[in-house]
Amino acid sequence: MTDEKQDLDIATLLVHEGERRGKPAARSVSTPIYASSTFTYDSMAEIDQVFAGEKPGYVYTRHGNPTVTALEDALRSVEGGAVSCAYSSGMAAIHAALFACELTPGATVLASQDLYGATTNLLLTVFGSFGIKTVTADFSDLDEVRAKASETKPRVLIAETISNPLLKICDIAACAEIARTAGARLIIDNTFASPYLCRPLEHGADIVVHSATKYLGGHGDAIGGVVISRDEVDRAALVGVMKLVGGVLSVWEAHEILRGLKTLALRMDRHCENAGALAARMQNHSRVGRVYGGLPVHGCIAALRAVDQSRRRLHQRAASRYGFASRPVTGAPPAVGNHGWTGSDLSRHRERE
Ligand SMILES: Cc1ncc(COP(=O)(O)O)c(C=O)c1O
Repeated sequence: MTDEKQDLDIATLLVHEGERRGKPAARSVSTPIYASSTFTYDSMAEIDQVFAGEKPGYVYTRHGNPTVTALEDALRSVEGGAVSCAYSSGMAAIHAALFACELTPGATVLASQDLYGATTNLLLTVFGSFGIKTVTADFSDLDEVRAKASETKPRVLIAETISNPLLKICDIAACAEIARTAGARLIIDNTFASPYLCRPLEHGADIVVHSATKYLGGHGDAIGGVVISRDEVDRAALVGVMKLVGGVLSVWEAHEILRGLKTLALRMDRHCENAGALAARMQNHSRVGRVYGGLPVHGCIAALRAVDQSRRRLHQRAASRYGFASRPVTGAPPAVGNHGWTGSDLSRHRERE
């Protein structure tokens, strides 16, 4: 112990021993969890430079954190975007994406009529209270989308690659074209497909959002959301929402979701196989009136006719091999839903059969 330390009270030593140790000589194989709300530097001048964005680095975790950046970079890379920003939930991410589209009072959002319910509520209540109007359309009917876009001159079109809960497929390339013609931006919620099955930016979407709570995380132990934009111009707004609204992703969740990504490919293949097998079996079940998705012959595939071969393959993979929902013959709402089919969901379901 140095003389200096010998003079310190044990209470002070207990607080400060073991901290500010600097980087280890070796690089860690997996991304460490940087559980630190603030970061320190050798001088105030350096802190000021980092804070002002003149020098790369981290000062305060609401403004950025290395564990969260690792997740953002991973998703920017797999989705093929220019900018990626993580938030505390999928809803926070959708809010940020809409905010980045500079919606001003009087602007219109053309939204898929079967968006995840909270997204529709966000548009109607939060954005609605700022004078932003939401008009809905069936995004599997391109003529309707085109007509409503031409009539309402929206600033944003928003849809889900595979909708929650009815698993309708969005023809992203066609919607991107409609958005371009209307001078609007296209936001695609890619939660259900994940970048393993579809990469919306490749089909012309402007912004992709994820509830990372679902397949990206994959283990039901983390809540998070991510926005990936094709355009660097969105960085200021996306980072601004993160810093000022403050719905930042926790470092612990970022770590869980990063770990989830490593098995995304394996899990999605298995989800698709399981869903296909279940859908085929339930199709012939006496107590099931209708199976949504999961089967090679499915209404939504028709929407993909205009899409070129490679896109069609990608979407069909999502549509026919991904999840499904079923409606009991009683005509009640879909019995099983929307999110990932876990092993226990499947076994519970088998028990019911
Ligand atoms: C398609 C879709 N988008 C967004 C969300 C919202 O995500 P979160 O619950 O992480 O806020 C959900 C949640 O179920 C969802 O299914």
